[in-house]
Amino acid sequence: MDMDKLMESADSIRKAYPHDLDIGIVLGSGLGEMAEAIEDAVIIDYHDIPHFPVSTVPGHKGRLVIGHLEDRTVLCMQGRFHYYEGWSMEEVVYPIRVMRMLGIGTLILTNAAGCVNEAWKPGDLMVITDHIKLIADNPLRGVNPDALGPRFFDMTRAYDRDLAALAESAAGSLGITVRKGVYMFFAGPSFETPAEIRFARIAGADAVGMSTVPEAIAASHMGMRTLGISCLTNMAAGILGQPLSHAEVLETGERAKASFMALVRSVLRGWGQLASIS
Ligand code: HPA
Repeated sequence: MDMDKLMESADSIRKAYPHDLDIGIVLGSGLGEMAEAIEDAVIIDYHDIPHFPVSTVPGHKGRLVIGHLEDRTVLCMQGRFHYYEGWSMEEVVYPIRVMRMLGIGTLILTNAAGCVNEAWKPGDLMVITDHIKLIADNPLRGVNPDALGPRFFDMTRAYDRDLAALAESAAGSLGITVRKGVYMFFAGPSFETPAEIRFARIAGADAVGMSTVPEAIAASHMGMRTLGISCLTNMAAGILGQPLSHAEVLETGERAKASFMALVRSVLRGWGQLASIS
């Protein structure tokens, strides 16, 4: 990891937004609109940030939206980098490292995911309690960037329990059903096969998806507190005996958007209480 590059990226953002930042938020498929709610927003296109990767997926914008949401200063990624696009894991997590360089200690990762748990249904939201990644690649493979974190690091608290509890109680007071479960990473871009989904269920997964895990690993490495929330947009492959489509993912994402946004906003409101405890 080239620390000079990271610092140059962070400096260019700090120049455009020279204030303290509380929380980094990665907006997954369908949630990009939340950035529109940010007040006094400073918007920076990824291609204007030195060394930043630039996203290629339709429906994913590639920009940072920085400003106030629920009285917190947030840095939102409208558009993330996926492994299936061809980025290395290190590139996928580059923006998370830049967030850390900017002093951000709390990260909210959102995504669309396939629902493996047969007791749940599309449109449900899930707070991630843990993850499974069976592919060998890892954003920390290679020389350890010692300035960011240790060579070997704990993953038992990769998903912060206080943040998860805050999300649960926020959902409760909003009257939103929120599930808690394990997210399993698949590299994509092919959706999983029915056999892979049966395997995922036996392995203990409740949801499957193509993002979030590399970012959560990099965040853990740097000692950030992470909250992961999935919008379960479809029953995973083979459960309903019908083909999966990206259109279905987008449609359900659209339907669940309002409660997804309300939940994240409520977490932001409660965050102050949490930060003062820790
Ligand atoms: N599998 C993987 N990623 C996904 C899915 C899925 O079923 N739905 C939304 N993202």
